[in-house]
Amino acid sequence: MRILVIGSGGREHALLKGLKADPLTTELHVAPGSPNFADLATVHPAYSKVDDPAQMLQLAQKIDAELVVVGPEVPLVAGVADELRANGIAVFGPNKSAAQIEGSKAFAKDIMNAAGVKTARAEQLVPGTSDAEIEAALDRFGPPFVVKDDGLAGGKGVVVTDDRAAAKEHVNEVHAAGNPVLLESFLDGPEVSLFCLVDGETVVPLLPAQDHKRAYDNDEGPNTGGMGAYTPLPWLPADGVQRIVDEVCKPVAAEMVKRGNPYSGLLYAGLAWGKEGIAVVEFNCRFGDPETQAVLSMLESPLAEALNATATGTLAELDELKWKDGYAVTVVLAAEGYPASPRKGDVITGPGLDDPNKVLHAGTSQAEGSPGVEEEVDVISNGGRVLNVLGQGATLAEARAAAYEVLEGLKLEGSFYRRDIGKRAEDGEISI
Ligand code: GLY
Repeated sequence: MRILVIGSGGREHALLKGLKADPLTTELHVAPGSPNFADLATVHPAYSKVDDPAQMLQLAQKIDAELVVVGPEVPLVAGVADELRANGIAVFGPNKSAAQIEGSKAFAKDIMNAAGVKTARAEQLVPGTSDAEIEAALDRFGPPFVVKDDGLAGGKGVVVTDDRAAAKEHVNEVHAAGNPVLLESFLDGPEVSLFCLVDGETVVPLLPAQDHKRAYDNDEGPNTGGMGAYTPLPWLPADGVQRIVDEVCKPVAAEMVKRGNPYSGLLYAGLAWGKEGIAVVEFNCRFGDPETQAVLSMLESPLAEALNATATGTLAELDELKWKDGYAVTVVLAAEGYPASPRKGDVITGPGLDDPNKVLHAGTSQAEGSPGVEEEVDVISNGGRVLNVLGQGATLAEARAAAYEVLEGLKLEGSFYRRDIGKRAEDGEISI
């Protein structure tokens, strides 16, 4: 099967690795990708407008793709899947109208209310809301204040803070950018990311994971797209995944079908499991990043087959997914200045850079080799989250140790990483 993956980050590198390992895959392409994906797929840097349905269709037709796997949310919300499907190409990823589950937080709330799914209380503040109304709304919600950009922010548009001035500043920033703000009540309890393959009302969960969104150790510093993740969750009750599927994912999938807007692709449920049970923090319409990098490293079943079954409406017939025993951890190596203003263009060195079982490339590129250096090309940083380092082990402690051993050998000036990914779970400090 000829498969095209759209995207260029660590999540897409993980998808390419998984798809390449499936004998069903005969040809693998990626747009725009990274030159560091070239061992796995044909890279198409000229096709960089991933939110341009016509350009993505042109490439899919040129390479005669039989399946297109869309990584990021932006092309999905822009209608890339609609355009491909309208031209007879199977797509892993929801249509534009169903991608609103991530594209509009107000839409997601409406679906959850109709489906009886528990979530945070929320109010939308549109640009132009008066200062007095913003102050009154802040009074109704915090502290702590949860202020979300009600547009696409790739997981980065959320500020959670006890500091009223910082909360208000974020409201004003989002309004200045022309987007509405969603104020939400704070949801207590440990967070779970559960990814489900969804084809209409059929829901197949992957392993549960936990992301670490703050930039620095001990959950300090600004919110980021995610600094690391581990899977599975040793503290989750034995029936935890099934409960999330039954209480959250299936009712939402059924509600979408009922509205004539069926979901097809990956439904990412971001949850908080507090004293009063499971509540949804957010939905995303695509694989989470960086959780996917850890989750897919544990998958034993063929990935292309699973994504193709979802894309072609035959998910109900897919064999049960099989997973490795043990744990996986991914830790993000971030560039100096991330998330505010990441420094780019620095050379990265160290063992494992060309081994996707150890290192996935999230924000890298290549440059001609430095004078006097043996390599013909240098791997250089080209984004905020630069590398996703992987570790696996029979225990969470072993998986963490494996990831940190690789990280210690990597060199990128000014870079940093969290040293406590999965640590609280390893120490038995998480309970629900
Ligand atoms: N890991 C957070 C996200 O993918 O949005």
